[in-house]
Amino acid sequence: MIGIFDSGIGGMTVARAVEQLLPDYSLVYFGDIARTPYGSKSAATITDYSLRNTEFLLQKGAEIIIIACNSASSVATEALRREFQVPIIEVITPAANKAITTTRSGRIGVIGTRATIRSGVYEQTICGQRPDFHVFSEACPLLVPLVEEGWTNKRETKMIIRRYLHPLKDKQIDTLVLGCTHYPLLAPLIQARAGRRATLVDSSVETAKYVRNLLAEQPLLVTREEEGTATHRYYVSDLTDSAQTVARKIFERPVELILI
Ligand code: DGL
Repeated sequence: MIGIFDSGIGGMTVARAVEQLLPDYSLVYFGDIARTPYGSKSAATITDYSLRNTEFLLQKGAEIIIIACNSASSVATEALRREFQVPIIEVITPAANKAITTTRSGRIGVIGTRATIRSGVYEQTICGQRPDFHVFSEACPLLVPLVEEGWTNKRETKMIIRRYLHPLKDKQIDTLVLGCTHYPLLAPLIQARAGRRATLVDSSVETAKYVRNLLAEQPLLVTREEEGTATHRYYVSDLTDSAQTVARKIFERPVELILI
């Protein structure tokens, strides 16, 4: 069983991609809606929440853990790898690798939460492999609450995105990393502001592809179910109307959110 967690519903964009790419694997998800957003909290607090989320998923039978949250991936990955024996997959490396192979100019933009941008993890990962590349990062702290609220196509959201992307305007980026798993829900609005010349890199889809490749190489890591018998369970630490609405939008079907 594949375990996936996020601060809320954004990580469901990873879960949806995993459901699509790995239909024969059971999945258990935990969205920490009661404590969202993580991105404005300290590294110590995010790490503490991530340890508890992982313990919960392991109790439910997870054999690997996907940290479907850039904020937690950027500050808590090492602690989780030290604490737990199972493979811990983070979302930064797959997205950074995709950005490196996508860009032609070597000028890459990254947007994410404060925690992710402050950690400098995308710069380190990208420039660690390509010191000649330039990474321009912008924290967009209001976007996660807007997505959690279901404001994915409001005029106010467009205005805030315009404001956040403004500093990137003259940087001549040709690739923009959606360094937060909530942002794929805002992709049309972000693309409209970033312009057609900027290719968006979705950390959610790239992570699901990474896990698919990992399981192709190491099939014994996770139990593969009989065709048509895989289960998908979605747990949350708080049950809100907007979470249910956004979950339905992500999966394009009603999803039962189980309150723990
Ligand atoms: N989806 C999380 C991420 O990728 C959002 C974190 C938050 O709650 O701020 O960073």
